[in-house]
Amino acid sequence: MSYIVAIDGPAGVGKGTLTKLVAEELGLVSIDTGMLYRTHALATLRNNISLDDRDKIINILKDLNIQLENRDNKQFVLLNGEDVTKEIRKPEVSAIVSQTSSIPEVREEITKLERKIANAWMEEGKNIIMEGRDITTVVFPDAKVKIYLDATPIERAKRRFRQNKKNGIDQPFEEVLQAIMERDKNDMNKEVGALKRAPDAVYFDSSNQTIEQNKKAILEIIRRKTEE
Ligand code: DC
Repeated sequence: MSYIVAIDGPAGVGKGTLTKLVAEELGLVSIDTGMLYRTHALATLRNNISLDDRDKIINILKDLNIQLENRDNKQFVLLNGEDVTKEIRKPEVSAIVSQTSSIPEVREEITKLERKIANAWMEEGKNIIMEGRDITTVVFPDAKVKIYLDATPIERAKRRFRQNKKNGIDQPFEEVLQAIMERDKNDMNKEVGALKRAPDAVYFDSSNQTIEQNKKAILEIIRRKTEE
């Protein structure tokens, strides 16, 4: 039977990179759920919806067809057929996404979409690795493997800064750190779907370790849990 590896953790912790590496190694389908929330935030921006207009932020979901595609082990997101994979990483989107994703009705819809995407893959016999903020607690609390990935804010800001550079986004380090701390505050204080450690998730601190070391440790957790 197919299994799910659920990974939660704060912004910039390296979930995306690690998930991708682990997916490659084990042949899992990887699903980055932040991409779904970011795509909805992008649509909010594009439609000039004020952040105070809760109803419009919720209602716009009805007009959105958000699809995730996995090609050559890379993930792409389509918004009504348009590839917005790059655009959703822009600082303007990052600046509002923790607010738009804190609305319970938005979370409810995106959670449904996440389950639908995972179930479709599992029906094809695939194993899944899904990362986000509430995967171990809300979306798939019964996942076979549950991991909470953590790292200090400074370490995470350094990683996000390097990632931005690679993606052609030029933002000063201080601003990146500030944004990370702001997002932590928002992500952890959401009314619904707040980032928290599930008591039965394996806690893993990735600070001060290389990507290779982290990958090895996660592979070991998955091996142990799937053999139980
Ligand atoms: O992982 P990320 O930085 O791309 O996530 C973008 C935002 O989406 C982040 O501020 C929190 C939100 N998010 C969420 O609330 N729940 C998830 N499962 C994934 C992301």
